[in-house]
Amino acid sequence: MFMADKNKNMDMDKTMRVGVVGAGWIAEKAAITLNGLRECECNAIASRSLAKAEEFASQWNVPKAYGSYAELIADPEIDLVYVATPHSHHYDVTRQAILAGKPCLVEKAFMANHAQAEAIVKLAHERKVFLAEAIWTRYQPAVGIVRGLIDSGRIGTPRLVTATLGYSMGDKPRIMRPDLCGGALLDLGVYALNFVRMFFDADIKSIESQCVKSATGMDLTNAISLVLADGVLCNLQSSAACVGDNIGVIAGTDGNLIIDNINNPQKITVNTHDRVFVEDIHVPKQITGYEYQFQVCRQALAEGLLEPREMPHAETLYIMQLMDGLRQKWGVHYPMDDEKW
Ligand SMILES: NC(=O)c1ccc[n+]([C@@H]2O[C@H](COP(=O)([O-])OP(=O)(O)OC[C@H]3O[C@@H](n4cnc5c(N)ncnc54)[C@H](OP(=O)(O)O)[C@@H]3O)[C@@H](O)[C@H]2O)c1
Repeated sequence: MFMADKNKNMDMDKTMRVGVVGAGWIAEKAAITLNGLRECECNAIASRSLAKAEEFASQWNVPKAYGSYAELIADPEIDLVYVATPHSHHYDVTRQAILAGKPCLVEKAFMANHAQAEAIVKLAHERKVFLAEAIWTRYQPAVGIVRGLIDSGRIGTPRLVTATLGYSMGDKPRIMRPDLCGGALLDLGVYALNFVRMFFDADIKSIESQCVKSATGMDLTNAISLVLADGVLCNLQSSAACVGDNIGVIAGTDGNLIIDNINNPQKITVNTHDRVFVEDIHVPKQITGYEYQFQVCRQALAEGLLEPREMPHAETLYIMQLMDGLRQKWGVHYPMDDEKW
């Protein structure tokens, strides 16, 4: 675990002031979430357009609006920069923030590819700046609940994992355009891969996969089959072209767990032999489900960590490498893949 200099640690009596970069869809969810937390605050919003930033600030009660990302990064009051641009722009924004010594929480997919991810993690380590991937499911209470159920042996030995995530979002430029790192994998498939890795850390022995592409060459719908070294088979699907059931199932020798849903688990159903219902476990009441990632960042900054325990850099890099391999097989190519980072 990488640690920062102790004298830079966040004071746990203080509110963590978050600066949000990019005034889009997820930025709104972040503002709603932060507005609901006492220990955190959405302190500033940055957009490429000042008018858009000001509108966002007035709608969500944000004290400061900036018409450039650089101004927010330079603001000495910001404790954490939350990078909420398309994946294609995560690298540049995060690099600028790290160079300015600002802790960063970066939306998923973390970067365009593994090379970018490796370069940015290296920079954060060199500069001793906290860096985390905003893969919200990793920070949520469902992780501990499901792990506990598996470890308790209630479903016997896990043998099969299935997970689907699908949203009809083929109208979004950031899904369709290669220069915005489009496709379902980096946007949605990343959750399915994390769903497996949150509960199973055995090496991947083999991968089979296929996808259906858009006219722009991005994966719109994909299917990935993994065999893990401990004999667990995982069938994962994601689609930006249809509405999925978004359910995850962990099937064991003595029963199964049904997780509804893999993109913000609300309910875990436990079934035993012959699919006999045992119980439904509901997660605690949430603001949006995004609060946990901000709370984890605040705690990590107080402890002087440079990465969250819940999602270490090695894990982010592992997932990025997996996604590079899948895209390479499918011929889903981004302009960033041709550059050195
Ligand atoms: N965790 C989750 O549940 C979740 C959900 C949705 C999205 N996300 C992630 O959040 C990130 C943003 O997604 P989103 O749905 O919020 O996207 P979005 O609505 O398109 O917003 C992205 C924002 O990024 C900024 N931006 C900078 N350069 C841009 C460019 N060249 N083209 C378009 N926008 C650009 C824009 O803000 P300004 O115009 O204000 O500069 C834009 O509003 C993605 O990485 C995505 O994977 C996460």
